Amino acid sequence: MIKKNNINKASKIIKKGGIVAFPTETVYGLGADATNENAVKRIFIVKERPFGDPLIVHINSIKMLKKCILSINNVEKKMIKEFWPGPLTIIFRKNDIIPDIVTGSMKTVAIRMPENRTTLELIRQSNCPIAAPSANKFGKISPTDYKDVLTEFRDKIDFIVKGRATKYGIESTIVRVVDEKHIEILRPGPITKEKIEEKTGVSVRVFKEHSIQKLAPGNYKRHYSPKTKLRIIYNESQLSKFLKMKKKLAYITIKENLSNSDKFEKIIYLNPQLNLNLLSKKLYSIIRGIDILNLDYILVDAIEEKGIGLAIMDRLKRAAGK
Ligand code: TXA
Ligand code: MG
Repeated sequence: MIKKNNINKASKIIKKGGIVAFPTETVYGLGADATNENAVKRIFIVKERPFGDPLIVHINSIKMLKKCILSINNVEKKMIKEFWPGPLTIIFRKNDIIPDIVTGSMKTVAIRMPENRTTLELIRQSNCPIAAPSANKFGKISPTDYKDVLTEFRDKIDFIVKGRATKYGIESTIVRVVDEKHIEILRPGPITKEKIEEKTGVSVRVFKEHSIQKLAPGNYKRHYSPKTKLRIIYNESQLSKFLKMKKKLAYITIKENLSNSDKFEKIIYLNPQLNLNLLSKKLYSIIRGIDILNLDYILVDAIEEKGIGLAIMDRLKRAAGK
């Protein structure tokens, strides 16, 4: 249920240049009026985020989109029709109302229309595009629950709009249209390569880590990291190496049961029929839950890099700093 008063209060704060955390369908965001340079600057400071790492602008209508950008091409139109509102961020050339602070001084701006009634209502009442990164300290795991935001920021921000645990639990897919025949995924997410190809008929390339930094500056190799070291397990010999180290281990596994379960401080069995959508929804909260146990390593079984599995493995690799 949407608490109207809550949103009303939050929108007043945003209009006055404050910063507010709110739920979206992906992760919680920390937002400000995207056209207000000083307000946006405070987001960077509170997050301890480098100024070169651009923010995503959230809109609630095509009218608002058009105010923020210079033009829309046919491929972008198709994606908007198919996937908005939804967890797909598209890179456009920016208009002057979007200040340089939002885009890390780039001429492009990342925009999405969220698929969450609270977020859409907040944008509507604020009557401005809202620039919002995920509501976590820079480099850490994105919050998927109201309580995660409280732990992270409590008194450091002006308001938190309370909502449920987020639907997808993983950040939006970021794409850029190269030309009529090519789309590039700069950050994999809930809208998969396969889905974009199916719905647009345009071929989609997934950017590899080494070249991405220039195009999507926030895509640092180490990101989305817990305090505890996280490692991905691809095979049994890797696992036995960790077991021999006599360290305190947590294991997030796709195996059905472990014969040596006593060797781990904590085991999370993922559904053997592994529902990847459910995994993406729960992944960050599982990792947060283990992170507070102060163990030496969080080990996670690799999963197939297909569909949303690509986004999950992307985040795990970054969490591992690999
Ligand atoms: O699901 C999401 O996208 C969430 C919710 C709150 O909407 N937001 C989010 O924002 O994940 P953030 O700040 O954690 O990630 C934004 C990333 C940047 O790190 C950068 O990689 C990319 O978006 N980005 C932003 N502007 C860009 C631009 N003009 N060109 C290329 N990449 C851009
Ligand atoms: Mg983030």
